[in-house]
Amino acid sequence: MEAINSPEYFEVKSIGGPAQGYISVVNSLENIPFTIKRVYWTYYTPQNVLRGFHAHKKLHQIIFAVSGTITFITEDLEGSKNEFILKEPNKGVYLPPFIWREIKFSHNAVLLCIASEEYDENDYIRDYDMFKNQTNK
Ligand code: TYD
Repeated sequence: MEAINSPEYFEVKSIGGPAQGYISVVNSLENIPFTIKRVYWTYYTPQNVLRGFHAHKKLHQIIFAVSGTITFITEDLEGSKNEFILKEPNKGVYLPPFIWREIKFSHNAVLLCIASEEYDENDYIRDYDMFKNQTNK
């Protein structure tokens, strides 16, 4: 897997056209740079609720807003902050490990996450000060 330390936009092809609609496809190791072990989605998040507030130790994620608009505010271990606005269903964000994120949702947003590992609560860093104190990966 190509190692990246900071999040970046991750775009996949949009197949189709305005007459018939579109389809986008992801495949393990073909256009997703890891073996997909888990897929989850979130929905009906109220517009005034912020989610996230954690980082992961091992997990790689590629996240799309398949509906609506989702804004990620991210911070990497070097303290570099970025905003990623997901508003097209084929343009996601790749979050490598050790990225703190806060997530805002539009009213109709559906977040689709493609993940490199199974769910493991021990993989979460939920305390911001602990995240800032991370030195070794
Ligand atoms: P969490 O990852 O904290 O969500 P968010 O960052 O969007 O607020 O997960 C919310 C809850 O869902 C938490 O109690 C753990 C549970 N959960 C699972 O059981 N399995 C999963 O794969 C995920 C992602 C979450």
